[in-house]
Amino acid sequence: MSVKIGIIGGTGLDNPNILDERVEKEYDTPYGKPSDQLISGKIKGVPCVLLARHGRKHSIMPTNVNFRANIDALKQAGCTHVIVTTACGSLQQHVEPGDIVILDQFLDRTTKRTSTFYDGHQNSPAGVCHIPMSEPFCAKLRETISNSASSLNLKHHRSGTVVTIEGPRFSSRAESRLFKSWGATVVNMTTVPEVCLANEAGLLYASIALPTDYDAWLETEQAVTVELALAAFKQNINKVIDLLLDVVPRIAAMDWTEEINEAKTKASTSVMLSH
Ligand code: ADE
Repeated sequence: MSVKIGIIGGTGLDNPNILDERVEKEYDTPYGKPSDQLISGKIKGVPCVLLARHGRKHSIMPTNVNFRANIDALKQAGCTHVIVTTACGSLQQHVEPGDIVILDQFLDRTTKRTSTFYDGHQNSPAGVCHIPMSEPFCAKLRETISNSASSLNLKHHRSGTVVTIEGPRFSSRAESRLFKSWGATVVNMTTVPEVCLANEAGLLYASIALPTDYDAWLETEQAVTVELALAAFKQNINKVIDLLLDVVPRIAAMDWTEEINEAKTKASTSVMLSH
């Protein structure tokens, strides 16, 4: 089975120049338009599709990202895999700004987002979808990314729990300490519902999280600001790009038939139709 890799670029990676043979295309979906045009092309001969989560001009705030349209458009484009990047704040001292965290779990603190394609509206697919979330991120894809990071000597963490907050404001110190006390690794504003929708769509999803700051819990460090987060991301952007360029051909060299079929079966068997 051939693969096509969707790459959703988060804050700081809105428009990376990493594709050969770029072709831009506008998509429309039953859920509206995605954040921007999809750019298809190749990384070392492997077909990929790039999408800027917040738009290429970074004009869409987290709550207003049309996550459903983004995932649906990548599916329409024929993607089998979705790898995303996300800037985040670290909730643990040993997870330093500039490290890479390959997420394996999430805690959902969002409040205003549609987290299913099956919402009962006219354009939505029929039924109610109860997608299992015990393992939201594709284990084999995570391992492949970790192996790639090891081979590049990038300091990384092979697992990590992200708390996704609604934003757009950052967390208060009390919230930040609460999330830390829960044992979470990092905090961001976009993993939920993106990963849930990717599962509903039967896509293999993994997230490369890049801590840019220590959020608000650590009084000896400056609490997060936009300036701090963007500057830190800029400093480390090459690590993420190197990782993407290395992992894409690794993925293409592997057989994903079983994982792709499992993901599709999980998605289809999770839908309850009325009778
Ligand atoms: N993105 C980058 N840093 C963040 C933080 N501390 N909280 C939420 N989102 C972030």
